[in-house]
Amino acid sequence: MKCLGIECTAHTFGASIVDSSGRFLSNEKASFTSSSRGMVPREVLEFHKAHRDEVVEKALVSDVDTVAVSQGPGIGTMLFEGMQYAKSISKKLDVPLVGVNHAVAHLEIGVKECRAKDAVFLYVSGGNTQVLIQGKKRYDVVGETLDIGIGNLLDKSARHLGLGFPGGPLLYELSLKGKKFVDLPYNVKGMDVCFSGLATDFKRKAESNKPQDMAFSVQEVAFDMVCEVAERALSHFEKDELVLAGGVACSKILQEKTRTMCQERGATMLVPENEFLVDNGAMIAWNGLLAYNSGQKPLSPSAEPLPHWRPDDVKATWF
Ligand code: ATP
Ligand code: FE2
Repeated sequence: MKCLGIECTAHTFGASIVDSSGRFLSNEKASFTSSSRGMVPREVLEFHKAHRDEVVEKALVSDVDTVAVSQGPGIGTMLFEGMQYAKSISKKLDVPLVGVNHAVAHLEIGVKECRAKDAVFLYVSGGNTQVLIQGKKRYDVVGETLDIGIGNLLDKSARHLGLGFPGGPLLYELSLKGKKFVDLPYNVKGMDVCFSGLATDFKRKAESNKPQDMAFSVQEVAFDMVCEVAERALSHFEKDELVLAGGVACSKILQEKTRTMCQERGATMLVPENEFLVDNGAMIAWNGLLAYNSGQKPLSPSAEPLPHWRPDDVKATWF
């Protein structure tokens, strides 16, 4: 039994094959980058179109039993094109097409790779910032951003400093030269966070402070905020495992902060390899396999993308 997973929600076009023992036979991708600006949907779409055949060709092995595709959440134009493309592959191979929630896929790859049993999940990416636990046949969102995603804050901040996209890793490199902490708004409300005030104040204070100090400070404040809500969830739900998910979890600073927080309360911080944190086809293939094997109905030829599909609206048939 083999599943081909296709990721297409934003900057990355990815394709991967997983077999029923959970072994990845391939994990290929092409990711949009820019040296001077952020993600322009039209440019990213052209990028996907230019690279997808090559990505799938490199990933594809024979005898695939099903195809899985990211149906949402994500950017509408990319999702629409990605789904059309996945539909044509499933038709060509004459196998069913399974719709996967991109957010849930970020969590499930963490469970698999880290062998998590009963965790709190901190999902930190460009478009999303959520704290989740496994509930009854679904993930429950127990905390989240009330405005923009943490990665979006980092990308905006990087762009303001004239760095390219993705901003997270570039901001990190710059922050290593930072020495002074610039005070920025810290906004936690119970288990929720807000980043847009921080994004605005960052621009204002960048006029009178060094870029490296701004890069250092925005990471300190934003990562402390998500660390605080993750700790509150561990305490409230009496759990002792924290799984990091999403592209921002690649940050060494965030990993160190959450690891220290977990150690101090006798919990374990778990994080998969970077290739499974930033958008990738492997997580879609794996979640597709779980869904298909547990009886999720295949998509019809007229199925549409779901750009605002929340993880707590997904029936986790495999739980
Ligand atoms: P989602 O739909 O899950 O929100 P996404 O499109 O944001 O997905 P991801 O690959 O999950 O894609 O996350 C991308 C984000 O991760 C970007 O904001 C990027 O700047 C950030 N990022 C990537 N690597 C690092 C890093 N090393 N440190 C900090 N942030 C990083
Ligand atoms: Fe993502």
